[in-house]
Amino acid sequence: FNVPAPVNEPVLNYGPGSKERALLKQALADARSQELDVPMYIGGKAVHTDKKSALRPPHDHQHVLGRYSQGDKTHVADAINAALAAKAAWENLSWEHRAAIFLKAADLIAGPYRYKLNAATMLGQSKNAYQAEIDSACEIIDFLRFNVKYMSEIYAQQPPVSPRGVWNRVEQRPLEGFVFALTPFNFTAIAGNLPTSAAMMGNVVVWKPANTQIYAANVLMEIFIEAGVPAGVINLVYVSGPDAGEVIFNHPDFAGIHFTGSTGVFQDIWKTIGNNIHKFKTYPRIVGETGGKDFILVHGSADADVSATAIVRGAFEYQGQKCSAASRVYVAASIWPAVKEKMLADLATFKMGPTEDLGNFINAVIDEKSFDKLAKYIDAAKQDAGVEIIAGGNYDKSTGYFIEPTVIVTQDPSYVTMCEELFGPVLSIYVYDDADFDGILKTIDETSIYALTGAVIAQDRYAIEQACHALRNAAGNFYINDKCTGAVVGQQPFGGARGSGTNDKAGSMINLLRWSSPRAIKETF
Ligand code: SER
Repeated sequence: FNVPAPVNEPVLNYGPGSKERALLKQALADARSQELDVPMYIGGKAVHTDKKSALRPPHDHQHVLGRYSQGDKTHVADAINAALAAKAAWENLSWEHRAAIFLKAADLIAGPYRYKLNAATMLGQSKNAYQAEIDSACEIIDFLRFNVKYMSEIYAQQPPVSPRGVWNRVEQRPLEGFVFALTPFNFTAIAGNLPTSAAMMGNVVVWKPANTQIYAANVLMEIFIEAGVPAGVINLVYVSGPDAGEVIFNHPDFAGIHFTGSTGVFQDIWKTIGNNIHKFKTYPRIVGETGGKDFILVHGSADADVSATAIVRGAFEYQGQKCSAASRVYVAASIWPAVKEKMLADLATFKMGPTEDLGNFINAVIDEKSFDKLAKYIDAAKQDAGVEIIAGGNYDKSTGYFIEPTVIVTQDPSYVTMCEELFGPVLSIYVYDDADFDGILKTIDETSIYALTGAVIAQDRYAIEQACHALRNAAGNFYINDKCTGAVVGQQPFGGARGSGTNDKAGSMINLLRWSSPRAIKETF
């Protein structure tokens, strides 16, 4: 049997006067008033160390939300040992019982933990209420429920042919060893999905979140424990990348990595795994979602209002820090004046400030390193010839890492901000000659060293068809007449190829299959 198809978790509305808004405000106030002492979790035990680091909201960096315990190589080794000790019992548990745990985790997030997890995401990662709701409520709930559904379908799949006298069957086995989940700051949902998708398939996991995401990771871990994830199945450690890498990538039982983060880090990890390949009992599964330089292409036939809305929302929701965020736009000259006017009008309505003031659409970027990097690109654009900043351009890190939504218009489609990944609220626009649609398609494809998301906005069906074909390798998630962000689990499986990753589509059966090692059995009667 398999489980019934879930429906997507409805997005709650936090509008003024709503009960949901009051509950969220209470959760934010509760989070502000307590001083967290965040432990690691190894073998089901909370592990505190003497080495503490502060957790601070990016939009209010002088405020300390709490402290977390930093670990080192010994904690990584302990986490691996705890995982391996838990392995036999966990993988022998039937899949329905594993499923029940993750379905319960989804219900806990949908119910009692929703506001707490959203508040942690809003404070720790500087997301506004809506962005937190679609991430740390809806998307992680959907990941858990849909992955259970996909898992049930995987277990139900059997070879279609067994001739008389033979019974052919396939047994799905967990990987031999442990899986390492390395999770990013920008989505609490991804942080929850990477360890749980591997664990669901019967694997044991060592999980290292980004330092800038530890607050929400800790709440997730509390939820997983309350849902019944047994001790040692998911072990959460806060250690440096080199400490984690040195222990994990030298361990004979390392069986796979589930990664979301930068292209550079992923390539380094891949090289290390390659260099150490003789040390492992099995070829490790390498699954990663990495960088992006996502585009929106506006054809001359496009609706100007649809284009402007897709651009500003695609580029500036969550300060442009979604891996899917639009960061380069190509607009046909004939429609540019109308698109520009609507964009500037929309941008003028965006308020910027701390997440606790729910009227703010733009919040802070994640940390000082990111702020400084973005400020450098903006400063250079102010100096460069052939480049005009038509919106934003100001930044201030005195209380939080605030960067105004910035729009750069360049006359050079190869200008640095059209090509390099910035990961922030800085959008670059190139205006092309309507007659050169073929040329612009070629330019986009040739400059797409990443290939995560992309969009075409057009009403001319021939143009849409042409863009779909010419850009088929330039984006793993392609949108027609919509922004390039906001993939929904169960609707648009998410991931890209080229420099954007292994395209193992988060929230799909493809991804879950990577955490299984099937055995084909032929029995003759
Ligand atoms: N699912 C998110 C989006 O598409 C990214 O992880 O925006």
